[in-house]
Amino acid sequence: MDFRTHVIAPGATSRLGADALLIVLAGDTLPAGLDEPLAAAVKEAVAQGDFALKPGKVAYLRQVAGVKAPRVAVACAAHGAPKALKAAAAAGLGVLKGLGARHLAVQLAGLGELHAGHAEALATAVADAVYLYRSTKPSAPPAPKLDKLTLLAGSRPEAAELATGLERAAAVIEGVNLARELANRPGNHCTPTVLANEARKMARAHGLRIEVMDRKAIEKLGMGSFLAVARGSDEPPRFIVMHYQGAAKSVPPVVLVGKGITFDSGGISLKPGPEMDEMKFDMGGAASVIGTLRAVAQLKPRLNLIGVVAAAENLPSGRALKPGDVVTSLSGQTIEVLNTDAEGRLILCDALTYVERFKPASVVDIATLTGACVIALGKVRSGLFSTDDGLANDLLAAGDAALDPCWRMPMDEDYDEGLKSHFADIPNIAGRDGGAITAAMFLKRFAGKMRWAHLDVAGTAWKSGAAKGATGRPVGLLTHYVLSQALK
Ligand code: BES
Ligand code: MN
Ligand code: ZN
Repeated sequence: MDFRTHVIAPGATSRLGADALLIVLAGDTLPAGLDEPLAAAVKEAVAQGDFALKPGKVAYLRQVAGVKAPRVAVACAAHGAPKALKAAAAAGLGVLKGLGARHLAVQLAGLGELHAGHAEALATAVADAVYLYRSTKPSAPPAPKLDKLTLLAGSRPEAAELATGLERAAAVIEGVNLARELANRPGNHCTPTVLANEARKMARAHGLRIEVMDRKAIEKLGMGSFLAVARGSDEPPRFIVMHYQGAAKSVPPVVLVGKGITFDSGGISLKPGPEMDEMKFDMGGAASVIGTLRAVAQLKPRLNLIGVVAAAENLPSGRALKPGDVVTSLSGQTIEVLNTDAEGRLILCDALTYVERFKPASVVDIATLTGACVIALGKVRSGLFSTDDGLANDLLAAGDAALDPCWRMPMDEDYDEGLKSHFADIPNIAGRDGGAITAAMFLKRFAGKMRWAHLDVAGTAWKSGAAKGATGRPVGLLTHYVLSQALK
């Protein structure tokens, strides 16, 4: 998609040669700065009872007298913040996206001073509106034609600010779309091997260095815990390491670690049948790491970034890991596997130990780790766990800025209580209570002295029900976080 900004004189919106015009308003009075023909058409729609200046309301106007663009949608936002703009734009796009328009021009009126976050909110709303999964559905409708977005600005400085937002958004959108595509693919179309090949393709296209380790190489490294999860499947595991270098080699990297369980049946501790199909999304953390590397490679900030993915399938079989088995992790700590369905932490612990060799500036792991996190936070905010306040605050701020929010959860030492085993250094589960927190406490044992945070995206990486599909979260949060760490 082509994104641009355009400085426009008052009165010129009506003369724009776009295929469609989207006007987003805020507040309950008609803002100044709206062209006369458009203002007249909105007033007329209100008078006819077709529209009201109330949050969530949308009007579709065709061939407005005195307006060159043949299609006009007017949407009302609750207030001027990017989040409200995004919701209103999504509503407006709902009526425009199915139409024939290729080039959409957008005017934001009455939202107060515009900044980069507004442009980003708008562009991501457009990307959401036109995204469609098609790779295993030949009968999917043709993609919407919309491929050009012009955002109008009232002045040159405002245009420059909005252009910055659009540039960042364009990269985030590519990253989000890649993450969605990978996560949406069914388990048989996205095995660990496929995931590694897709990461390779992405790395090659964007000039990133990549290493992919196969079962033998993973054995040689000594990742006994990761390998134990992979044992039950005939699909071989992959350990993927992607390097973005944007600063001197001596600059400590930011490291992202993704859970890449391409299908989670639970293993011998088999999951119940209903909704088990959704466990194809259990590589959402890995997809977000690959997507973020894609976005960062496009934006080229001055820093070093390493993305690591541990990919395996969790299946029951004659060779599968069993409850009670004790495995030896790369760190040397032994783990008693009390539940083979708590497999995410078993692959992440070895990945965390592995990345210590990079002496990271910070490490963030991203995982669809626990159903308990969905119970705690629902599907709005991702769970954030960290023992480092600075890192936690940076991630919280990044999530807010990207409209991809998270919420910090506690990690008091007292939560460690349940993580005791008679037969190993640590069990892989504690009781049911506080399950998202005890999972984080488990990971903490493998994070050593690194500045580390864990994002549990079990509730946010995909949607269930009528809108079933991957969201691409938390690529927005991660990209904003990484950019915030760039050298000045
Ligand atoms: N991938 C699941 C977590 C999950 C469950 C995400 C439901 C989204 C929706 C994870 O591997 C898992 O199975 N976790 C168990 C842990 C338990 C056995 C301690 C869970 O949450 O039930
Ligand atoms: Mn599981
Ligand atoms: Zn899982």
